[in-house]
Amino acid sequence: MNLQLQPHSKVEDNPMDSFFDDVLKGLQNTPKKLSSKYFYDKTGDELFQKIMAMPEYYITRCELDIFQNKTSELVRQIISDKEPFDLIELGAGDAMKSTYLLQYLMEKGYDFTYMPIDISGNILSVLKEKLSIRFPDLNLNLLEGEYFEMLQEAASLSGRKKVILFLGSNIGNMTIKEAETFCRDLNKNLNLGDRVLIGFDLKKNPHTILNAYNDKTGITAAFNLNLLNRINRDLNSNFNLENFQHYQTYDPLSGACRSFLVSLKKQTVTIGNTPILFEENELIDMEISQKFSPEEIKELGAISGFIPIGEIKDSKNWFLDTIWQVK
Ligand code: AVI
Repeated sequence: MNLQLQPHSKVEDNPMDSFFDDVLKGLQNTPKKLSSKYFYDKTGDELFQKIMAMPEYYITRCELDIFQNKTSELVRQIISDKEPFDLIELGAGDAMKSTYLLQYLMEKGYDFTYMPIDISGNILSVLKEKLSIRFPDLNLNLLEGEYFEMLQEAASLSGRKKVILFLGSNIGNMTIKEAETFCRDLNKNLNLGDRVLIGFDLKKNPHTILNAYNDKTGITAAFNLNLLNRINRDLNSNFNLENFQHYQTYDPLSGACRSFLVSLKKQTVTIGNTPILFEENELIDMEISQKFSPEEIKELGAISGFIPIGEIKDSKNWFLDTIWQVK
């Protein structure tokens, strides 16, 4: 295996400072808000694994269906001939879905380097272990850091064509405005002819969507409440989790699936030394999981400077991987 690990790019002097600042600012806001990007500590990662295994949470299985069963179609759309390229995955995690793509590309003799980007060096080390066993001949270049900084790094490492993967409906955890800004920034960080493959969860029967985030077993509730635990542990705070309740909504018109925590009584919580007052029934806005129509996806690509190449849906037509090219 040909392997390189890029040195960690320093984004923040101290990530804990920005966590503290974000939490305090969010809880002093009206309405109160916390960022779901902070869900993923060790317990959060474990809870997300459980969510992905829940029968109600169809998203992972749908995109896996595409990567497992429509691999050749996918490859035809991300790369038009056998020119060498860099396959860059944003937030690669355990690369469960992309492993099928890697397998296909290796078997067919494509000349490519896989460059997973992740903020967590630990996740990348685990991935390196896994891939080195599965694909000893894979060219692998691990990029630890923030997405756009690491895209710059990737550009400085090779002038080859880039194919970017952004899977799992991670784009849904942005508001539509944030997603537009993200896609424009992605476009600016790439060159003419580079391609992106982005996974979108589609609007569908609203019960199906709501059930995926409102499981009776309470795993999604625990996933949300765990952020309060993390704040208690890392920011010297005193949330009593029993005084908060998970509440999930889905609006089929806008496609916004949102989670909240409801304060069950009037209470004061201290974050470090700062008191935060909660009224009874006051909400904390926790996460958006935006759902899209195929037309909204096309529109997003067009306004952010891409031309559509193709799209692939799973067998239920519940999830869509779109392929766009930088124009
Ligand atoms: C990571 N992300 C795409 C998940 C989603 O579906 O929005 C996070 C999640 N939140 C609750 N369940 C899953």
